[in-house]
Amino acid sequence: MTSVDVLFKPFDLKGLHLENRIVMAPMTRSFSPGGVPTQDVAAYYRRRAENEVGLIISEGTGVARPASVNDPKVPRFHGESELKAWKTVIDEVHAAGGKMAPQLWHVGAVRSRETDWTPPGPYDSPSGFSSPGKKFGEAMSDADVADAIAAFAKAAKDAKALGFDAVELHGAHGYLIDQFFWGGVNLRTDRYGGPTIKERAHFAADILKAVRAEVGPDYPVIIRISQWKQQDFTARIAETEADLQTWLGTLVDAGADVLHCSQRRFWEPEFEGSDLNFAGWAKKLTGVPVITVGSVGLSGEFVASFAGESSNPASLDELLRRLDRGDFDLVAVGRALLQDAEWARKVHEGRNDDLQPFTREALGVLA
Ligand SMILES: Cc1cc2nc3c(=O)[nH]c(=O)nc-3n(C[C@H](O)[C@H](O)[C@H](O)COP(=O)(O)O)c2cc1C
Repeated sequence: MTSVDVLFKPFDLKGLHLENRIVMAPMTRSFSPGGVPTQDVAAYYRRRAENEVGLIISEGTGVARPASVNDPKVPRFHGESELKAWKTVIDEVHAAGGKMAPQLWHVGAVRSRETDWTPPGPYDSPSGFSSPGKKFGEAMSDADVADAIAAFAKAAKDAKALGFDAVELHGAHGYLIDQFFWGGVNLRTDRYGGPTIKERAHFAADILKAVRAEVGPDYPVIIRISQWKQQDFTARIAETEADLQTWLGTLVDAGADVLHCSQRRFWEPEFEGSDLNFAGWAKKLTGVPVITVGSVGLSGEFVASFAGESSNPASLDELLRRLDRGDFDLVAVGRALLQDAEWARKVHEGRNDDLQPFTREALGVLA
């Protein structure tokens, strides 16, 4: 059995020093009416900073496109009152000794769950599809694409100016950037589409380059990616190691410092013949730091938890074995930290009997 000490070793990236390897995974909370994070939101993040979370990644927060968010209570990362509120958030987190990155988000063609609300503009998408064959959203014009790239770059510039320690781009789970990666919904024939992943990665690469131009060479830029889509858990961007290398290599060449490799269960192997997971392969193929995620410390995965399934605390042994082996650098934890602000501290202190199950009720409060 590996000791939890491997989770509590410091980590340095460019100028960013993290006290340990625990990252709070980005989790949409919808507690920001009118797109403005409240004092309660700032206090929620501060509590995680006070309790040994090494790096906090914010809930997805919308860049300046009319339909970048599909819920009016999701925070935006543009506009005077929004950015002022984010300044309060980062100041609170810093006051508690924490580090934080906003997750910059554009939902693309993923419909709102709020039936009585529509965004103030059309849903952007590469080719007007939400999933293969399912028409939804507007195929973006050249001007729309350029505007979206500029919106991500501006948000990254603002994040740095506000004092955030890094930025993360949401390039996963079937949202806008991921829709460009996904051949099933990106049918474009211009620079941003084509039969190869190299071509379909141009949108993300252009965003990364634009972000890098704004934040400079020394500021950490993370991109979150996934093979799976919320529209289709079996969808994959890279079926082979060679495709994975091309995909990730394009992102790293464009300026990504860290690859945040989203899985629903971190222990699932990416390819046959090896137990390496997605993050393990990303590190092996690119050599850059990687973050793993997916059911850390819990028995069940997160999508089922939206439907009400509870999860019990689960052993960290397999995670620690892989971390100790060097498969990944950082470990993102979602629901366990949503449920309990003190999760990291309890793990560090070996208070395993105090670890809590995750229940759906936790989604309804900002505890
Ligand atoms: C309530 C909730 C909201 C989420 N919102 C986001 C999000 O805004 N951006 C994102 O990249 N992932 C989001 N996720 C996925 C989590 O970041 C994480 O990958 C997932 O919960 C798996 O980690 P876990 O098993 O430790 O919970 C969300 C998950 C939950 C439970």
